[in-house]
Amino acid sequence: MIDQARTPWFTEFAERLGTSIDLASSVIAEVKLDDAQFKRLRASCLRYIHKCLDQHGTSADQSTLLKMAAAKLANRTPNGILLPKQEVEAEFNNLHRDVAEWLSSLGVDDLVDQAFCPITLRLVKGLPDPAEDSRPYASVKLHADVWAGEPTDSVNIHIPILGDLERTGVHFFVPPDNFEKDWLRPLKSYNEGIELEALVQKIPIQLRFGYAYFADATALHKTIKSKGGERLILEFRFRRKGDKPNPEAVIDTDRGSNYINLYEWYQLGTTKYMHFEDTYADAKRQVFRNNPYSKTLYSIVNNLRP
Ligand SMILES: [Fe+2]
Repeated sequence: MIDQARTPWFTEFAERLGTSIDLASSVIAEVKLDDAQFKRLRASCLRYIHKCLDQHGTSADQSTLLKMAAAKLANRTPNGILLPKQEVEAEFNNLHRDVAEWLSSLGVDDLVDQAFCPITLRLVKGLPDPAEDSRPYASVKLHADVWAGEPTDSVNIHIPILGDLERTGVHFFVPPDNFEKDWLRPLKSYNEGIELEALVQKIPIQLRFGYAYFADATALHKTIKSKGGERLILEFRFRRKGDKPNPEAVIDTDRGSNYINLYEWYQLGTTKYMHFEDTYADAKRQVFRNNPYSKTLYSIVNNLRP
């Protein structure tokens, strides 16, 4: 059951964007991007991936790009995230700038608190990969983002960019009745929620190119792999402002430190610049300063690139 306290924010948000909430969940909204914005985002994502492939002295055409990137890129985590590194940070800053421009153009700043930094570009393989898919937080397992430690007042945004959305998609589900009370907390592994598989109902949302999907951090979802090809989705999060769902129940974990002031987030890639500490060269040698899959180390510098 969806906690009714979560739905007013989505209703207002969707109304402001001239769309409607998904009626089965009340906490997911599909929003169309205008064509020029979508083309710009897609082009920036492609420039970023091509620059990553450059680090291997190789390139790929459109038809093999995602397959080659999934097989080769040293900055790709087992969950498919193409982590920003120093050598590719100019392209990453440009991509961020385009995402920020789009969010800013929606005119919903008064409904948004902080935004997650850095944004995420996720490249998922179409075929099952036992090593990647068995990890505790593997996205092919049914989960809500709060289980991975995201704040309970956060909203996740998916923007499909390229690839096989039909066979390598994301499915969303209506939770069972006891869901809110018992399940709004970080779990050590998504396996702890496996009992819900038999109790959830699939929502008839099919991700489409040219649209963005806003989903509550409690929305149950998973990556689907059905003998398809790779797919690329841009993802980021923000925390709601104003109508907080059950403020006393907002669980703030250490993931909260990944969120920065919205107006500073808007400046990144234009008057401010993200400089990443880890290098691509080190990633190729499997050398990381920090746990490579937890926190991305970066500093924000003013104006000039270092
Ligand atoms: Fe997720």
